[in-house]
Amino acid sequence: MDQAPFLTMSNICKSFPGVQALKNVDFDLRKGEVHCILGENGAGKSTLIKILSGALREDSGVIRVDGKAVTLDSPARAHELGFSTIYQEFNLCPNLSVAANMFLGEEKQFKNKGLIDKAKMRSKAKEYLTKLGVEISPSVRLSSLTVAQQQVVEISKALSRGAKVIIMDEPTASLSGEEVERLFETICLLRENGVSIVYISHRLDEIFEIGDRITILRDGTKVKTLESTKEIPREEIVALMVGRKLEDWIPKIKTEKGKEILKITDLNSEGKFYDINFTLYEGEILGFSGLVGSGRTEVMRAIFGADPYDKGTIWFDGKEMEKNNPSKAIKAGMYLLPENRKDQGLILLLPISQNVTLPRLSLVSNIFKISKGKEREAVEHYSKELNIKTPTIRRLVKFLSGGNQQKCVLAKGLFSRSKLLIFDEPTRGIDVGTKAEIYDLINSLVVEGIGIIVVSSELPEILGLCDRIIVMKDGTIAGELERGHATQEAAMALALGEGGIN
Ligand SMILES: Nc1ncnc2c1ncn2[C@@H]1O[C@H](COP(=O)(O)OP(=O)(O)OP(=O)(O)O)[C@@H](O)[C@H]1O
Ligand SMILES: [Mg+2]
Repeated sequence: MDQAPFLTMSNICKSFPGVQALKNVDFDLRKGEVHCILGENGAGKSTLIKILSGALREDSGVIRVDGKAVTLDSPARAHELGFSTIYQEFNLCPNLSVAANMFLGEEKQFKNKGLIDKAKMRSKAKEYLTKLGVEISPSVRLSSLTVAQQQVVEISKALSRGAKVIIMDEPTASLSGEEVERLFETICLLRENGVSIVYISHRLDEIFEIGDRITILRDGTKVKTLESTKEIPREEIVALMVGRKLEDWIPKIKTEKGKEILKITDLNSEGKFYDINFTLYEGEILGFSGLVGSGRTEVMRAIFGADPYDKGTIWFDGKEMEKNNPSKAIKAGMYLLPENRKDQGLILLLPISQNVTLPRLSLVSNIFKISKGKEREAVEHYSKELNIKTPTIRRLVKFLSGGNQQKCVLAKGLFSRSKLLIFDEPTRGIDVGTKAEIYDLINSLVVEGIGIIVVSSELPEILGLCDRIIVMKDGTIAGELERGHATQEAAMALALGEGGIN
């Protein structure tokens, strides 16, 4: 690897109303390296890379490419310099083919006598996809691809435009374990070809596996750049990130199993899930494990009434629940904290305070109107408990960092004082420090006798938290594991089906 950096950012500052997101941050990039950025929620990671991708403008500081100062005043300019960003919400058109997506806006290179030579476009697209070692047909519609495959199309698109730097902000958030491995193979290939990667993730294991260097941010300042990821103890990195030592795991608290709170019998939804039967008791944490796409989220949405189902019964707190009626479910004392916080969990244009109290306005209302004082008191309590980074709870949710938005969804669920809380991927995008706090909170909720379901793709999380684990595969329940007998291997074997891992 060429040791001298070709890109340097020095003394970068960026402020938003009430927050200085970046304070004199230095960052540099070498050719063909994977440079990871680590930091707690709200540390400034996304802001830094948005400046690099031309989406935000720095207030002050200098950016140099090959020694020359550059102005990144638009995404187009960043593209010209070879910087491409793979966003979580892809910039792709679902109804167009893979090839058309790859060359969107660049079609003129395939023009032949005024017409676009589609065959040529497809074969060029195939060339880039093959370079990345993937079998995706250039002629299929984008919407028929999995999230992981769409990501590969985004990367190919970046390469076809001559990207020298590919920036990835939490690229693995919705990928399964196997898909993550495949993404890593792609990243290694890019690195071998001299492409540099800026990589943001909260999963330390990933950083250790794929990263060459690590830059750690804390509260908008750069703490340190580590020259290697080898032989650095995890605790040391975590301490640099959070500025204190952290207990690695919250011990499991023993609780009394109470009465039956939820009973699902023969729940079916054509094409989504089949023959779902299970029971949950008060004071119990039930985990749902399985591969991405195994039907876990769909089952939870049906239970909460967010989606219809074909047949089966949902008994909640002794009563049969109405189909497809989430507001009744909330009134009855059930709450679902969705995985897709931006689309389903929050109203981005409302302040934190109103988002949090929305599920149960009655809790902060006097007879006729909402009491602002009660609202403030309740929301400030949860904001403090979950360590939501914001100058005020009146801030619009839109302006929070990704992880802090996730915390708002959690605050909603906690505020609603439900008897049953369903957490779908509760710690996705959440930093290590807060993760421990969330586990602690979940534990204190079950002690109070609430029933809890946790859907998670992170096996250690499920194994650590839950009393029982249901493993799903292809829309059905593949098996159930009791705490004490549940191991990573046993859960994986069920999730993958007969034959286990091979
Ligand atoms: N458009 C904006 N308007 C106001 N404040 C913003 C805006 N974008 C970011 N911020 C604030 O800047 C700070 C840094 O946010 P940033 O998104 O860079 O954090 P992050 O490190 O990516 O965190 P996460 O891990 O949660 O995604 C946060 O306090 C955030 O609320
Ligand atoms: Mg972010």
